[in-house]
Amino acid sequence: MKTHKTFTIITFGCQMNKSDSELMELSLLKSGFHKSDSYHSDIFIFNTCSVRKHAEDRAIAHITETRSKYKDAIIAVAGCMAQRIAHELVTEFGVNLVVGPYQSPDIGNIISHYLYNSAMNKYISQNADDFASRLDNELAHHSDELPWHKWVTISHGCENYCAYCIVPYVRGKLISFPSQQIIDYCTALIDNGIREITLLGQNVNQYGQDSGDIPFYKLLDKVASLCGLYKLNFITSHPKDFNDNILHVMNNNPVIARSIHLPLQSGSDAVLQAMNRQYTMKQYFTTIDAIHTIVPHCSVSTDLIVGFPGETDKDFEMTLNAVKTMQFDEAFTYKYSPREGTSAYLLPDTIPDNEKQRRLDILITTVREVSLKQLHNHINSTTDMIVERISKKSESEVMGKTICNHPIIIKGTIDDIGKKYTVTIVSLKGSTLYGERSA
Ligand code: SAH
Ligand code: SF4
Ligand code: F3S
Repeated sequence: MKTHKTFTIITFGCQMNKSDSELMELSLLKSGFHKSDSYHSDIFIFNTCSVRKHAEDRAIAHITETRSKYKDAIIAVAGCMAQRIAHELVTEFGVNLVVGPYQSPDIGNIISHYLYNSAMNKYISQNADDFASRLDNELAHHSDELPWHKWVTISHGCENYCAYCIVPYVRGKLISFPSQQIIDYCTALIDNGIREITLLGQNVNQYGQDSGDIPFYKLLDKVASLCGLYKLNFITSHPKDFNDNILHVMNNNPVIARSIHLPLQSGSDAVLQAMNRQYTMKQYFTTIDAIHTIVPHCSVSTDLIVGFPGETDKDFEMTLNAVKTMQFDEAFTYKYSPREGTSAYLLPDTIPDNEKQRRLDILITTVREVSLKQLHNHINSTTDMIVERISKKSESEVMGKTICNHPIIIKGTIDDIGKKYTVTIVSLKGSTLYGERSA
């Protein structure tokens, strides 16, 4: 179809959404639409997140503003909030179309149909059958972030039902892509110049459990063995399903990033149980020990929630102690946000916001102290890095990430972007590492 219509995609939420937005962009380009050079465009796609109320509020504010500014534009909402409040988006916020999270590869067709017949069904539901179009080799030539990097979704959905979490309700049950298809896809990506891959799933460690496919550690090993890759990352790991097999595969494959994201959520067994996380602090400790024993110099990052219903001062202290004991390299910290439909929503949200904020502030300070100390320990060590961009502070410096996924700055130019170097870490300024290229 020939069209001069332009589009803008606005993405909120996690890497799944970033990856889906790439698919949507490709699909819209294939259908003949043009990517707008500015915000102004004929079609707006909001790819949304529902994980916390704040994420939804931000998206709603953007949508409302866009609707009032561009009265004739087509506004489509995709992603998790589209799944959660589809009807409201159309009736209250003037959205033209809502598209469930599994329709991303087809968005070009959906919008084309809408242009042809605006009376069509406005609710394009969740249908996860069409895997093939998600593993699209053309994506190798297409990126609006790092041109050598690709997110590769290995599983969709989640059935863990952590008490606070909306994801299982908006993304549906666990569905693993066939391993052979993933390996063929990664091979094609590498043949087309992709050098860094991140395997994605809400809980990658459960890969294959739904379909009887190979377990995650075998998939990781197979992808890591493909020639031509500089770096292989995987997120997210769930402590209840993490195991030593993954660590042995990491240790045997230097191409796998020395970086594990292992969300702890709380340092208190009582809270972990109330959250339905299905592990104890003792088990989590054992895993951390195993990581440091089997994969030397591996960074560990985590997610932490404060103010879960019933969290006492003592529980919170245990979270602080866990951060100090575990010495996380990084922790993403959140105030508990009640999500309608989750089991925790039925519990009274007893902790007032100012108390949640107080705990969050203390936690952030503790996390910062610990992570700075961890960064400091890297000084004088040697590591591989991939250069990502020119430094924001200086034209003669470039920023990249180490094999532990720490940001690092070295001297360099635009020609270094996408290249892999071995560097020695020489200093820490603020929370940024500085390095020098080894001869
Ligand atoms: N699948 C991943 C990520 C889920 S969402 C995992 O299992 O870890 C990312 C993070 O958001 C979670 O780890 C959790 O710390 C946080 N989160 C999820 N729901 C939340 C809620 N209702 N309130 C506050 N934080 C939440
Ligand atoms: Fe949410 Fe838990 Fe699933 Fe992660 S594992 S997506 S926190 S239900
Ligand atoms: Fe948000 Fe959906 Fe991802 S709720 S965190 S965009 S899976």
